[in-house]
Amino acid sequence: MPRFQRPTGTLDILPEEQSYWEHVRAHAIRLARRAGFERIDVPVFEATDLFARGIGAATDVVEKEMYTFNDKGGNSLTLRPEFTAGVVRAYIEHGMHVRPQPVKLYSIGPVFRYDRPQAGRYRQFHQLNLEILGTQDPAADLEIMLLVWDLYAGLGFRGLSFQLNSTGCPRCRPAYVELLKSYYHRHVDQICDDCRRRLETNPLRVLDCKAAQCQPVIEAAPPIGDHLCDECADHFAQLREYLDLLGKPYTLNHRLVRGLDYYTKTVFEVWAAGIGAQAAVCGGGRYDGLAEILGGPSTPAVGVAAGLERIILGMKAQEVGVPPLPPPPVFLAHLGPEARQEAARLADGLRRAGIGAWLAFGERGLKSQLREANKRGASYVVLIGEDELAQGVAAVRDMRTGEQTEVGLAELVGWLQERTGR
Ligand code: HAM
Repeated sequence: MPRFQRPTGTLDILPEEQSYWEHVRAHAIRLARRAGFERIDVPVFEATDLFARGIGAATDVVEKEMYTFNDKGGNSLTLRPEFTAGVVRAYIEHGMHVRPQPVKLYSIGPVFRYDRPQAGRYRQFHQLNLEILGTQDPAADLEIMLLVWDLYAGLGFRGLSFQLNSTGCPRCRPAYVELLKSYYHRHVDQICDDCRRRLETNPLRVLDCKAAQCQPVIEAAPPIGDHLCDECADHFAQLREYLDLLGKPYTLNHRLVRGLDYYTKTVFEVWAAGIGAQAAVCGGGRYDGLAEILGGPSTPAVGVAAGLERIILGMKAQEVGVPPLPPPPVFLAHLGPEARQEAARLADGLRRAGIGAWLAFGERGLKSQLREANKRGASYVVLIGEDELAQGVAAVRDMRTGEQTEVGLAELVGWLQERTGR
């Protein structure tokens, strides 16, 4: 038989990792709800065209990274490589534009990209996604940025900073792209092959190139900030004013263009110090044209997505602890067939009363059961033998003190409830 392994670029999240995941999810959901976000769950797969149109056919995500397949009905479907396109599709499909605007939605779940795996980069990973749909107000951009800031700061991250840029709009961007292209054509012998290709397919992405030979050309490229239309410049200035007012550190980064085509105006990332090459823990921005591209009403919107694996890697790198997930406090040990039945009944009763209970399985000696109770981290062991049963009691051992007490079976649930605080 072949030995199966998990697919390249995927992770098994083992029980001992789950305390991080529960902690991060609970913190994220608390923050989102506190700011008035409601949860939306969209399908894990959507029509391939939704992503091709929404994210952009010439992006790396669509060109190289999508898990696309034909179902048995011959429909081309794709595992979602992100949430935004699906959320906007749902907003349009359910006529959410008639609800009071803006609509604030959060999602949390797995996304899929055929990326090159390395630490912090996977093929199945999880995103917390936040979107504010139906407002142009730069205060919405600010709110999205502050939310993710609080997400990381609240988890105990240090050395956070915003990287910020504006990528303009369909009114001012085309002229800037022409300017950028003509600048690049003058330096075409200094740039990498990828950039030569990008210049034709997705010119803004040249600014994002990591190849060493391209860096001097990128550094000296005309910054888009000098070529924004009045509306974009004003929007950007208002956002920066807010950030200044709130004392949030940000770096204007004219190379920040992000990998998805739908962005207009604001784009940003949060970088965390000391977590290696994948310093961007989240990224987002405004996408005022996406709803229309997908056949809906014009809907200005802004959002962000945070990779949960990167958050957890970052927490470990920065030695941020999380509270452990406690095991059931009660362990039920038994000796003899009738005691075993009583223990099973008690386990059921304790659980219904909200007390975590672990029932020993099989017929084993007391020593072996106590050893197990110890390994499982139980606070109390309830021991029932034939003698106890005859007297209608159980022996309850407090595992911290070693003290043993006899408790009537009828009072046992209440007795343990008091002591375990349930
Ligand atoms: P994105 O920058 O493509 O944006 O992804 C957001 C975050 O997902 C990244 O900052 C990173 O934390 C995480 N991430 C991306 N790729 C991987 C990977 N291969 N492995 C692990 N983590 C990864 C979006 O997805 C946009 N939809 C964000 C958005 C929402 N913009 C507006 N609304």
